Amino acid sequence: MKKIIITIDGYSSCGKSTLAKQLAKKLDYIYIDSGAMYRAVTLYFIRHDINWKDEAEVKKALADVHLEFVYNPATAQADMHLNDENVEHLIREMLVAEKVSEVAAIGAVRHFAVSQQQKMGNRKGIVMDGRDIGTVVFPQAELKIFMTADPAVRVERRFKELYEKNQNITIHEVKENLELRDYIDANREISPLRRADDAIILDNSQLTMDEQLGLVLQWVEDAIMEHSS
Ligand code: DC
Repeated sequence: MKKIIITIDGYSSCGKSTLAKQLAKKLDYIYIDSGAMYRAVTLYFIRHDINWKDEAEVKKALADVHLEFVYNPATAQADMHLNDENVEHLIREMLVAEKVSEVAAIGAVRHFAVSQQQKMGNRKGIVMDGRDIGTVVFPQAELKIFMTADPAVRVERRFKELYEKNQNITIHEVKENLELRDYIDANREISPLRRADDAIILDNSQLTMDEQLGLVLQWVEDAIMEHSS
């Protein structure tokens, strides 16, 4: 069957990566978590005390950042490696979450990440999630999905996920972080989060995982049919 590019954009904690992973598994596609790249750059900047308001300093620092997705047989997923170190868990922590939207708004950082993402898409059969994948990274993608969900549902989901790893976290902190990230992501100057004109909206506030997957697999089939003729 013909392979396509599937893009999934949307607000934080709508379940983009969960859906992307399920699709990749079901379709035997490669899943690429573009947010992990912005998170890894943020971790590097924090560790090296980079002043990201200084463009020259950012550019110099980026020259020393090497990102790679490395397959982890234990989880059957690709882990983010930063300069040969597996940082998959570290980049999910609050320390990074608090700063990542600021770092992801910087032009040089976006250019650095987007050019690598576009290279990964040279081959079809990929699912990539993020904020600008359908608008900037792959405007020619055959299937574009824009995910959204009720903010209260998103806060609850994200809180549960983080609380499993860290019991010190409060729902208030999670809510504040999500609101701030959504605001910065949607209002930044370069490639803000927005729905591509040809993206299908998926509001999953009231959907079970199975219902959601069934629906999207139908969209995939339709997109493949449409682009085969
Ligand atoms: O999807 P995520 O929560 O891991 O993304 C982390 C941050 O990176 C998010 O606040 C916005 C930014 N991001 C982006 O600007 N563009 C992307 N394609 C992916 C993520």
